[in-house]
Amino acid sequence: MSLLHNADLSAAFDRAARSYDRMVAANPGYHRQLRRSARRLGLSGGGLPGEGPGVRLLDLGCGTGASTAALLSAVPGAEVTAVDASAGMLERARSKSWPRGVSFVHAPAEGLAEAGVTGPFDAVFAAYLFRNVSDPDRVLAGVRGLLAPGGRIAVHEYTLSGRPAHRAVWTAVCRGLVLPVARRAGDGDLYGHLWRSVVEFDTAEEFARRMERAGFVHVRVLPLPGWHTGITHTFVARVPTAEEQA
Ligand SMILES: C[S@@+](CC[C@H](N)C(=O)[O-])C[C@H]1O[C@@H](n2cnc3c(N)ncnc32)[C@H](O)[C@@H]1O
Repeated sequence: MSLLHNADLSAAFDRAARSYDRMVAANPGYHRQLRRSARRLGLSGGGLPGEGPGVRLLDLGCGTGASTAALLSAVPGAEVTAVDASAGMLERARSKSWPRGVSFVHAPAEGLAEAGVTGPFDAVFAAYLFRNVSDPDRVLAGVRGLLAPGGRIAVHEYTLSGRPAHRAVWTAVCRGLVLPVARRAGDGDLYGHLWRSVVEFDTAEEFARRMERAGFVHVRVLPLPGWHTGITHTFVARVPTAEEQA
């Protein structure tokens, strides 16, 4: 099972887009945990677009829109720009029904400015993205630059605790459940990448330090319940306020 990068990864997501929503529906708590992480941004109602100063959010790596829906449930009425590098995943997202103020952009996280995605945003949500990018430091630096002073970030990611038991659970779930189903659907490459990318990516502690090095402050690592314990975490942080930057 090899890791996929850039165009190969986007092509694998394009192929898997048709079955993606069914796969995640079989993952207990997938949507509930995304909503929990989105709420951890600590933002409330965004106001209706066009009716006062709304909250501007970026959903980076939005896929078929599961994280976009989670963001909207946490911050109703927000203006959301949802970005993904896979045209196939975006096509699925766009085919759903969205409130006013939600827009989808086909772009890599590494090329947001070129795609016309400009800040400042009040907050960024990135669910299951960072493991997949070739240069997470570069993407974190780009995100930091798009946030308003004091702007917030929530990263929801498979990041192992470092304890062998959690890694063993992850491998058992992938080998016993995820990979057999994915292979039958013809998506063995992508879900093989999923297993390996988690095992090889930062531990939760390492990713938190990576965020601090990128200039985020008040970085907190929050656990998620159920089988996600020690496997999936929410990372919340913010950029310094104008006063802190002065
Ligand atoms: C596992 S899916 C998660 C989708 C969604 N956030 C969710 O929670 O269901 C990861 C998404 O990240 C996108 N992605 C991976 N690398 C990317 C990159 N460098 N730039 C933008 N999107 C990327 C993929 O195309 C895919 O749709």
